[in-house]
Amino acid sequence: MKGNSSKNIKAAITAVGGFVPNDFISNQDLEKVLDTTDEWITTRTGIKKRRILKGQGKGTSYLAIKAAEDVITKRNIDPDTIDLVIVATITPDYKGAATAPSVASAIKANNAYAFDLSAACSGFLYGMSTATSYIESGRYKKVLLIGADKMSSVVDYTRRETSILFGDGAGAVLVEPSKNEFGWEDEYLRSDGIGAEWLMVKGGGSMYPMTQEALDSGWHYITQDGKTVFKAAVSEMASATEEIVNRNNLNPEDIKFLMPHQANKRIIDAAAEKINLDKNKVLMNISEYGNTTAATIPLLMFDYESKLSKGDKLILTAFGAGLTWGAAYLTWAYD
Ligand code: UT7
Repeated sequence: MKGNSSKNIKAAITAVGGFVPNDFISNQDLEKVLDTTDEWITTRTGIKKRRILKGQGKGTSYLAIKAAEDVITKRNIDPDTIDLVIVATITPDYKGAATAPSVASAIKANNAYAFDLSAACSGFLYGMSTATSYIESGRYKKVLLIGADKMSSVVDYTRRETSILFGDGAGAVLVEPSKNEFGWEDEYLRSDGIGAEWLMVKGGGSMYPMTQEALDSGWHYITQDGKTVFKAAVSEMASATEEIVNRNNLNPEDIKFLMPHQANKRIIDAAAEKINLDKNKVLMNISEYGNTTAATIPLLMFDYESKLSKGDKLILTAFGAGLTWGAAYLTWAYD
């Protein structure tokens, strides 16, 4: 529903939902087929399992629809009241047709328009910036933001460098005008195209369309320069987090939780250390899901929702392909 523009509207997350498939690949499974060990993967990344969506004809929309339905049920809203559906993803169902319209139709958000947002592991953060802007402007009243990725569709399971890292999943949030003083407080978002080639799926885009040659070269799989991305992620996630904490005059004691993108436990530890945050204030589920790209932060909200209370000060931070990165500060709006 359209509303009047007002400078005083604050945007808040009013419900969270999530979905991960039951099937998974454990470190022990990978040990059997690759030159790797549970010990290496655990100590270098913190990952134990990654969830995998099995079944032909099931794409990212399958995950996104499940997470969206969870939000609709929990918040008990009529899908017809949703104004906008955003799906943050780098693994859309198809090239050329966005995934969000399929999701909106499936959840019967008949009055909504829908689009995809591509910002890789920062997709949820960028999506929150977009969703909150629509709410703050007064233009819309209900925005459904879903971070969803079927990373198994772009992983080469013969390569130990990438197959250990990624998993499938989706997390969703409803963003509405806040009914109290809590909600989206501040954000610091950045990008730098210089690192595009450090982490990407080379083939199938307009630069290198999917020819037989591209396929034979394995360009339909995700590749990354792990060490370079690791260093950039540590540096940028830590400084974005520090920036958002400092400019909002937050002390480590004020912060209830840091909700960081789940790419590597060592990157998360470095970001927490930069702001002197106690380890028990750093939320993680990387061991169970691996890196689910745009889904990691909303899946953290989904998993830890029962530990969140009205007024809790939360810091979000992410770093991903593009390069894209940033941090945000929000106060949780409900018990
Ligand atoms: O979410 C988007 C952002 N993505 C990320 O933030 C991911 C960033 N990168 C990383 O998390 C890490 O770079 C990795 C986990 C991918 C790799 O960890 P690393 O500590 O940077 O290892 P490395 O690439 O420097 O490799 C160290 C050694 C190498 O062997 P040599 O050359 O020292 O003999 C690798 O070949 O470890 C070897 N190696 C492995 N060994 C066992 C690489 N992958 C594996 C493996 N199992 N899976």
